[in-house]
Amino acid sequence: MDFEKFCRHPVFKKKPIDPAGQPDRTLKRTLSSFDLVMLGIGAIIGMGIFVLSGIVAGLHAGNALPLSFVLAGIACLFAALCYAEFASMVPVAGSAYTYCYITLGEIWAWIIGWDLILEYGLAVSAVAIGWSGYFNAFLLSVGIVIPPALLSPPGAGGGLVNLPAVLVVLALSLLLIRGTKKSARINAAIVIIKIAVILLFIILGLFSLNPANWTPFLPPAGWLGVFSGAAIIFFAFTGFDAVVTAAEETKNPQKSLPVGLIGSLAVCIILYVILGIVLTGVVPVAEFAGTGAMNAPIPYALEHMGVTWGVAVISIGALCGMTSVILVMLFGQSRIFFAMSRDGLLPAVFSEVHGTTDTPVKVILVTGILTACIAGFFPLQIVAELVNMGTLAAFAIVAAGVLLLRVQRPDIERPFSCPGTPYIPLLCIGSCAFLIFNLNRLAHFMFIVWLSIGLVVYFLYGMHRNASRNGRVSCGTGAPAPVPAPEIVLPVLPPLSRTTETTENM
Ligand code: ALA
Repeated sequence: MDFEKFCRHPVFKKKPIDPAGQPDRTLKRTLSSFDLVMLGIGAIIGMGIFVLSGIVAGLHAGNALPLSFVLAGIACLFAALCYAEFASMVPVAGSAYTYCYITLGEIWAWIIGWDLILEYGLAVSAVAIGWSGYFNAFLLSVGIVIPPALLSPPGAGGGLVNLPAVLVVLALSLLLIRGTKKSARINAAIVIIKIAVILLFIILGLFSLNPANWTPFLPPAGWLGVFSGAAIIFFAFTGFDAVVTAAEETKNPQKSLPVGLIGSLAVCIILYVILGIVLTGVVPVAEFAGTGAMNAPIPYALEHMGVTWGVAVISIGALCGMTSVILVMLFGQSRIFFAMSRDGLLPAVFSEVHGTTDTPVKVILVTGILTACIAGFFPLQIVAELVNMGTLAAFAIVAAGVLLLRVQRPDIERPFSCPGTPYIPLLCIGSCAFLIFNLNRLAHFMFIVWLSIGLVVYFLYGMHRNASRNGRVSCGTGAPAPVPAPEIVLPVLPPLSRTTETTENM
């Protein structure tokens, strides 16, 4: 097969952005810039800061925890700038999956869609398990005991099912079904609580700092510890890109998406770095290494300071934090399945929009039930690293897509243009590759297994289902097209709503 013919194979077909072609499968625009910043913070602050920061301080970065936050945060900032360019240009559901479909073609889009299941779906399950742990500790503190069989998956300490984890995922799925705007309002309230709790800890901690705790600054493993710490604490930033999965439900996506992405990330980088400085200034990091304190570093620090009343407050804040992460990640996963279904890569039922709630009820239910089952029945030890692996791969591919589209279509109007191109996208690819390199080998292996399963599913199912066979997908740029519409078609903005109503009061 000659190269040109190979490149024209249907698996490399590219997608025009044409959701308006399916008016019954588009979503209602209700979200503002503020909602998106809140959505981003809702997805970012959760298990990473309330659990993993202790592990990273104790076992990896030591007093250099804030430096690990900075490194991971910078990699995310590069990615946010790349996402912002795409999101303002292509404001439809699907996130990195859709961007890939436009620039690289169908098979790459499938791979990234499959990869995003790791980021969103697995993060929902992982954070639900973390939520269950905090919830149980809270119930114990008020004298309520849940039988151990209902707190762990089968095989772990006589467990049957992690019931709180299942219930929280199902309850939040029902909330999402009720409406995007309602969910966004509840998310905003939760975000305010968790930011308040983190600020409270920072303020209390400032009065108990012991500068001697910051020596030595580097951990025993030196810079390697800082780097592996950054690769793990990256989890604490994942989720900001869920903002772009709301593109099709945003009133002014070209302006609001970049604000949502960069605004939410900037707030969290600042909060995390200050929290890292305070945490290591209050507690000698050696006390985190291999102890119970490692899994609940902030409550431990408060006890260390003698602020016992603060422990319950922080636990409630942590529960709120994780609740909104589950909510937004569930939202993101359902919207990615929605976009894949609308493109014909998944069953059509996944992109049906309910007439009353204006939400894709069926795909939310399926996503909720699947992630609840994983949360209830699987112990997910290396799950954070696997989520990071999937997310870092997605970031690198999006950055490559930005560069590619600049070459393929320099003429397209870019309402938000990634500054410093090509350096920022290249730095994004480089920093993501560096963090991937610093992850556990087991995570690399499981990621390759996951992608291989995805390719098998694609060749057995997705490839045959794709609506591109019906002429909805173009062949992209460059190569001569065997079917009409060879160009990437970018959207005319913004009226993609199923209804004509495009605004709703906050
Ligand atoms: N960033 C999210 C968290 O830390 C996934 O829980």
